[in-house]
Amino acid sequence: MKLRIGLLYGGRSVEHEVSISSARSIFQALDRDRYDISLVEVDYSGHWYLREPDAFSAKESEKGMEVSLAPVPGLATLLPVADPSQPAIALDVIFPIIHGRNGEDGTLQGLLELKEIPYVGSGVLSSAAQMDKDIAKKLLAQAGLPVVPWLTFRQHELKDDQREAAENAVGVQLGYPVFVKPANSGSSVGISKVKDRESLAAALGEALRHDDKLIVERGLDAREIEVAVLGDDVPEASVPGEIKPSHEFYDYQAKYLDSSTDLLIPAPLSDERSASLREMATKAFRALDAAGMARVDFLIDRVSDEIYINELNSLPGFTDASMYAQLWQATGLSMPELLDRLIDLALKRNQRRGGFQRRFASDG
Ligand SMILES: Nc1ncnc2c1ncn2[C@@H]1O[C@H](COP(=O)(O)OP(=O)(O)O)[C@@H](O)[C@H]1O
Ligand SMILES: [Mg+2]
Repeated sequence: MKLRIGLLYGGRSVEHEVSISSARSIFQALDRDRYDISLVEVDYSGHWYLREPDAFSAKESEKGMEVSLAPVPGLATLLPVADPSQPAIALDVIFPIIHGRNGEDGTLQGLLELKEIPYVGSGVLSSAAQMDKDIAKKLLAQAGLPVVPWLTFRQHELKDDQREAAENAVGVQLGYPVFVKPANSGSSVGISKVKDRESLAAALGEALRHDDKLIVERGLDAREIEVAVLGDDVPEASVPGEIKPSHEFYDYQAKYLDSSTDLLIPAPLSDERSASLREMATKAFRALDAAGMARVDFLIDRVSDEIYINELNSLPGFTDASMYAQLWQATGLSMPELLDRLIDLALKRNQRRGGFQRRFASDG
């Protein structure tokens, strides 16, 4: 019997289109002899539609049949919304490929946990922690991993009378340039590089359009190195890869719209450097309690040669231009094998966690 897998993609975020590209790559690479694949696209308003296999070329107007998850725990079933007499679609595992908010921030994972549905990738807490740059940095630092110095501000701490103190703190504690980032975002959306105090206010305002918490980070002149991590209790790390953005930094344009960004796989690094990056990557994976997969992104300061962990991504891009699968390819794992591993990890994690005691059992 084939495993029935639901690819859940799209979503209500600025990364909707990226998610569709990721889903397309995954769809193409999944082994048809092993899997029956259902495509479920989440539109911008949050409705779920069952799409035909040719969905990736279909027009916006052809949405397919609207479905919802059956409200019964332990039953991974998609129910047609408009016509309940239509047959329901049963699934064995869901592969969420929704980047950003409501996709990789633990909320979707929470929904799937409530339904006891096996799903690929990190759980609720880890997804949320990986998504929140402020929380992630605190946990990484606590695990003894190097992170770039930063300050965190909530919206109310940047209001009128407090704004000046905040801006002073940035200058004194970090110096320029700095990077201003929404605490929760992705794909560089809402992120600005700020070279002087005059430009700081605009950057803070921009970040606050995406989240009510933001971080300001010391800006480095840095190499960008990424390591793919796969596994669960004993995660494995890929060879490191390097990104050479042709833009001022690796912004949305450079990530998805520009083919001039070079990926060097493996990254030109000494064996010792490579080994320590791989070790740090698995350590970071565990520090944030990740499961299944994560891409660990590093910055290496060109001046001091220091290594820093920039961030973890619980759902790295899977588009044809994306690093994660290419890193595994270079480490000896093809994309179909990688997907098999991820799905297997999802099923095992669900089994392991499904049997916890639910009622208080007294000895008496
Ligand atoms: N402290 C920093 N110093 C230098 N460059 C940075 C720094 N922080 C971010 N960048 C640049 O901005 C890009 C996006 O920042 P990142 O924190 O990775 O956000 P996202 O979650 O959107 O990918 C990075 O890939 C890098 O090019
Ligand atoms: Mg990044």
